[in-house]
Amino acid sequence: MSTYFSTQGQVIRCKAAVAWGPGKPLVIEEVEVAPPQAMEVRLKILFTSLCHTDVYFWEAKGQTPVFPRIFGHEAAGIVESVGEGVTELKPGDHVLPVFTGECKECRHCKSEESNMCDLLRINTNRGVMLNDGKSRFSINGKPIYHFVGTSTFSEYTVVHVGCVAKIDPEAPLDKVCVLSCGISTGLGATLNVAKPPKGSTVAIFGLGAVGLAAAEGARMAGASRIIGVDLNSNRFEEAKKFGVTEFVNPKDYNKPVQEVLAEMTDGGVDRSVECTGSINAMISAFECVHDGWGVAVLVGVPNKDDAFKTHPINVLNEKTLKGTFFGNYKPRTDLPSVVEKYMNKELELEKFITHELPFSEINKAFEYMLKGEGLRCIIHMGA
Ligand SMILES: NC(=O)c1ccc[n+]([C@@H]2O[C@H](COP(=O)([O-])OP(=O)(O)OC[C@H]3O[C@@H](n4cnc5c(N)ncnc54)[C@H](O)[C@@H]3O)[C@@H](O)[C@H]2O)c1
Ligand SMILES: [Zn+2]
Ligand SMILES: [Zn+2]
Repeated sequence: MSTYFSTQGQVIRCKAAVAWGPGKPLVIEEVEVAPPQAMEVRLKILFTSLCHTDVYFWEAKGQTPVFPRIFGHEAAGIVESVGEGVTELKPGDHVLPVFTGECKECRHCKSEESNMCDLLRINTNRGVMLNDGKSRFSINGKPIYHFVGTSTFSEYTVVHVGCVAKIDPEAPLDKVCVLSCGISTGLGATLNVAKPPKGSTVAIFGLGAVGLAAAEGARMAGASRIIGVDLNSNRFEEAKKFGVTEFVNPKDYNKPVQEVLAEMTDGGVDRSVECTGSINAMISAFECVHDGWGVAVLVGVPNKDDAFKTHPINVLNEKTLKGTFFGNYKPRTDLPSVVEKYMNKELELEKFITHELPFSEINKAFEYMLKGEGLRCIIHMGA
């Protein structure tokens, strides 16, 4: 049975939270959302949450400013209509939009080792759609730019079909929306990239939702010690629910945290996963792994001028440095099975959700994140 929405082929007028300039509170505006073009789909967003990547590009302190813009990339919704050439999705399908896509045709999409699609990999500076180089959002004919191809802080958005994962229609969208970025990223960074052997010691830098999902991955992989590192000690109590067994606040020591970790672990941890976005934490996360076999995985999004500096002897000493977007998951191929992990109760999502807000109060979600309060805040678009 197929669903048909009467808005198909029409411009939709709806509410969106527009960022008019760096660091300025979002303003709920009435925007016009054009119909999807070739290989695009228009989604009705039901729930969205805030990830730290939105906040960096909204603050635009160390990032290229692109304004006015509609942020948002962690969300869940329903397909409203599809553009020409779209055969895999139809109106009514339940979906998760993803900031990095999968065209299924390029060398990366065909490789088992990569999710860095040539066509649809993350591009934080592009504010337009690929098909015609234009935005689908406007106010009085003036364009409002997209963010990472998703722009989910809008009741309706247009996304490339390759950035949309079709999921189990039974999955509760107000929970699985957190799998569209942060939780899958952290989980995959550990399970798919760091791959800690059973019984190993894993350090997690940054105990926000992404880091705690990485800790959850370490617990699932059978790590015996999971050491959480964060500058905010308020994180430590909550982190116990995610299997973190020990805590280190770098501010409590007058030596580099990599030395503290080396002393705690007889020379270094077996794996580390960095989920902070701080260049110093990235360097510490690499240097704290054990020589001979240690592997560090970078997840945090750096500032545009950051440079990673370490002595090459660390590499000669057989420490490995890796990085990942979206935990190496291919969004269309792999995300439905991550949703199934939640449906089968192998993965708990409720504990990542610490706040809920109506769309009209979206700016409060930014305040929570800037204060380091809570993990994920679910924004109800219909409320
Ligand atoms: N690679 C990807 O695909 C991907 C996907 C999602 C998010 N991210 C990035 O992951 C990071 C975490 O995202 P989040 O939403 O969990 O953010 P968050 O703000 O909720 O958590 C970050 C945590 O890091 C801590 N922190 C900051 N600097 C630190 C330092 N120097 N040492 C130790 N701890 C430090 C903070 O106190 C905070 O608890 C961000 O950089 C985000 O942009 C990357
Ligand atoms: Zn994100
Ligand atoms: Zn591709």
